[in-house]
Amino acid sequence: MSGERRLIIEPLGHHHNRNAFTCGIESLDAYLRRQATQNVKRRISRVFIARYPDDPARIVGFYTLSSLSIDLSALPDQTAKKLPRHPIPAALIGRLAVDASAQRKGIGKMLLSNAIRRTLLVSNDIAIYAMVVDAINQDAESFYLRYGFSRLAHTRNRFFLALKCFQSRPD
Ligand SMILES: CC(C)(COP(=O)(O)OP(=O)(O)OC[C@H]1O[C@@H](n2cnc3c(N)ncnc32)[C@H](O)[C@@H]1OP(=O)(O)O)[C@@H](O)C(=O)NCCC(=O)NCCS
Repeated sequence: MSGERRLIIEPLGHHHNRNAFTCGIESLDAYLRRQATQNVKRRISRVFIARYPDDPARIVGFYTLSSLSIDLSALPDQTAKKLPRHPIPAALIGRLAVDASAQRKGIGKMLLSNAIRRTLLVSNDIAIYAMVVDAINQDAESFYLRYGFSRLAHTRNRFFLALKCFQSRPD
């Protein structure tokens, strides 16, 4: 974590100050302010936030997780030919963002790794083939590409990473 203060990652709650969060992309800030709590309540997505231990209300970053299936035709032929001819189960990081004041300090990477770890734990009970992400712009795309994500065919900004490369047993 390169000397950064330790972070706590926990489900979004009412005590978190959603209004103060700003990552530089208005639609992501607005999602956190206006939609996130409703989506959680309706079981559309789970929202996890990062915060410093000594500042329980301040949101330093967040990500969302939900489930989806990938059409086989969106995967590369080499991958698809080894899979059954059915939609492939996956987990989606629909949004991931770090507060502007805390960007470029390793927090985005930590959030991504936390989302993957959380998904791996779930995948011991419910099969999940891949992690899928939606990249909101070119910067986000570059961010995900450096962690081995590949573009899903027929999509503009959706990328996947097969989970088979990770250890999936809970510790
Ligand atoms: C993209 C974003 C999540 C990255 O988070 P961050 O905390 O600033 O990134 P990190 O410090 O963890 O960087 C991790 C790595 O990604 C690289 N990186 C970070 N931002 C990048 C960018 N915009 N373009 C290319 N690479 C980037 C860093 O150099 C670092 O590489 P390294 O490990 O080789 O040093 C953050 O900048 C952000 O919230 N941006 C606005 C919202 C957004 O674009 N969300 C993306 C998903 S919708």
